[in-house]
Amino acid sequence: MTTPSQPIPGAPSSQPPSFDEPTEPRKPLPPKPDQHGPELVSPTGTPTGEPEGSRSQSGDFLTTAQGARLQDTDHSLKAGRRGPTLLQDHHLREIITHFDHERIPERVVHARGAGAHGVFQSYGTGTGLTRAGFLAPDVETPVFVRFSTVVGSRGSADVVRDTRGFAVKFYTDEGTFDLVGNNIPVFFIQDAIKFPDVVHAAKPHPDREIPQAQSAHDTFWDFVSLHTEAQAHTLWFMADRGIPRSFRMMEGFGVHTFRLINNEGATALVKFHWKPVMGVHSLVWEEAQIVNGMDPDFHRRDLADAIESGNFPSWELGVQVFPDVEDEMYEGIDLLDPTKFVPEELAPVQMLGRMTLNANPKNYFAEVEQVAFHPGHLVPGIDASNDPLLHGRLFSYLDTQISRLGGPNFGQLPINRPHAPVNDMLRDGMHQSADYAGVAPYKPNSLDGGCPFHAGIDAGAFIDVPQAVQAGKKERANPASFNDHFSQPTLFYRSLTPTEQDHAAQAYAFELGKCYEQTIRERQLTALANIDADLCRKVAAELGLPVPVATEPPAEQIPSPAVSQLGQSWPVAGRVIGIVTDSGSDPAQVLEARDAITAAGMLALIVAPVGGKLPGTEDTVQRSYATARSVEFDAVVFATSVADQNGPDPRVVVLAAEAFRHAKAIGGWGSAPEVLQVAGVDADAAGIVHGNPGEVVEALGGLLAHHRVWERFAPIQ
Ligand code: HEM
Repeated sequence: MTTPSQPIPGAPSSQPPSFDEPTEPRKPLPPKPDQHGPELVSPTGTPTGEPEGSRSQSGDFLTTAQGARLQDTDHSLKAGRRGPTLLQDHHLREIITHFDHERIPERVVHARGAGAHGVFQSYGTGTGLTRAGFLAPDVETPVFVRFSTVVGSRGSADVVRDTRGFAVKFYTDEGTFDLVGNNIPVFFIQDAIKFPDVVHAAKPHPDREIPQAQSAHDTFWDFVSLHTEAQAHTLWFMADRGIPRSFRMMEGFGVHTFRLINNEGATALVKFHWKPVMGVHSLVWEEAQIVNGMDPDFHRRDLADAIESGNFPSWELGVQVFPDVEDEMYEGIDLLDPTKFVPEELAPVQMLGRMTLNANPKNYFAEVEQVAFHPGHLVPGIDASNDPLLHGRLFSYLDTQISRLGGPNFGQLPINRPHAPVNDMLRDGMHQSADYAGVAPYKPNSLDGGCPFHAGIDAGAFIDVPQAVQAGKKERANPASFNDHFSQPTLFYRSLTPTEQDHAAQAYAFELGKCYEQTIRERQLTALANIDADLCRKVAAELGLPVPVATEPPAEQIPSPAVSQLGQSWPVAGRVIGIVTDSGSDPAQVLEARDAITAAGMLALIVAPVGGKLPGTEDTVQRSYATARSVEFDAVVFATSVADQNGPDPRVVVLAAEAFRHAKAIGGWGSAPEVLQVAGVDADAAGIVHGNPGEVVEALGGLLAHHRVWERFAPIQ
């Protein structure tokens, strides 16, 4: 029998465990081959030359935190076997004390995340735009990425409807550059002073602390329906981007406008984009709800599994480039307003390089939890614009990390250490782990020979791009262009295909349907009337409410097809196909299908009535009927055979019905038509293929390239 050409991901350890507890002393096992930790540099960025793993624990024997070997760790020290525990037991106290302090505060927002290591390869196409060295030709820069949800707590579910964080740390030779973006190009608010308001509105209600990780509740819709600059962002995540299929299939955006400066001193305004090689794809809402019960770690697992099985996720980094003109507008769009995006049809994205995530973290806490991003981590050649939201962020991240990571020295944590030499005059403080030399940590000095010295532009200094400041009076007010809250939501909605529009309407109906107060629903319906009459009508019908009159009737907009997720075809490598078998399945056909799937770079998971081996083979079953659900698969193959007099197993029937309802490609042979029939599915419907294993897998690949069988969604009338 054949063996899979790709490992089945999910192995918990680098070696299969023995049945009995090992007792022979040996060195700690290495990490799994798909994992590595932060680069081996000192707290101040110097390569240490230490071997990989030197920061991990070492030695054959269990020790105290101070390295003394221990004979027993299963019993506390007692005055007699039935006597009281002794205060003298320093080993017990060390263990319990450390345990008592294992938790740190979770992030105020973006608390739940997943991370991976990777590399960024520059195309060199950015050199005319910026003098940033990591964008010069052929430069490779290590990166660490953290994806996150915004609203939920650290233990909340992954596929809730929410915006996703997309934060990338580039460890460049000129200092660390953090691109701290989201998977949506616009933001809720224009001014950072409103950030606590929008976050308090989205978080659980303060009295009962529900609902967790949800926007479907009164306080959120109360705020966004009153503070209508939030409508654009809200619509983007009511649309399918609010429930991504995978972190691997998300676009990323820097959101704000940044200013680049090149070697000649010429400047340009830009917006950063990440384009996933796999395309931008989403779940459907019912699927997301099932996933949250079946596998709350769905996105986290998907990312780790893909990397472990060698399907390295990849994105191209690009910029939209705008002339650095005095009014900082482009085609009538205010580049300083973070609630606005610039359609790609007006300013195409110019690609600068490609990022590939190729290693999983070795330790979640040390890397994913302790990583600290900051939009102020800029490198020479990249500078902030005057976006008022960005300016609040430039203050906020450093400030919050002081309390989250327990003091001002979190930059010395291994994952946060720059790979460029650090030569600052910051000293002391909690958790200081650098050992500074020198007697004069101040400038100017002569006692340390004047060290360190200022760098000129020739020595690669970061220089704030000189910029004229508009004369004006000091005031708390927005420019007039910020008052347009509806033209862009209208533009976005009208750029979607009818299916995507329906999904957005259904999302509003769900979310508003979960609100208690009718007034809030009515107020939000008025905002929808200002976005699009048809959207408003569909949502109002579902809520059983009258359609309100628009207060700012929507104007014509030129659509931007680039924001739609449909209409193209995408690589299928890295997709997951379930092969459902039963007790009579022909193992040769099952394995032929599995091998064809793996040969196409996809992951095949075999589902059988019970776990163990596929009958008649040495091949392991990955899912039993008890653990499988359609939501885990992008497409499903029914390799079923027996026509039992009781009919197919009810769990297989549910799987078939859901896969069909969620518009997934389905294939099969043997009794597949009967399974589909019992599930109420027309076996000749669109996106269902019959044939031998090779034909079925090939046809499924063709269908998967479009992500779903879109015609299965019946339009809302
Ligand atoms: C365009 C707007 C924004 C984007 C794209 C954005 C993005 C992000 C991302 C991706 C993270 C998670 C970083 C990680 O993975 O560790 C994050 C965290 C955070 N953001 Fe923002 N954010 C935005 C606006 C703001 C604003 C306006 C503020 C405050 C004024 C803010 C405050 C925070 C804080 C306090 C954290 C937690 C940081 C930590 O504890 O490490 N964000 N944000």
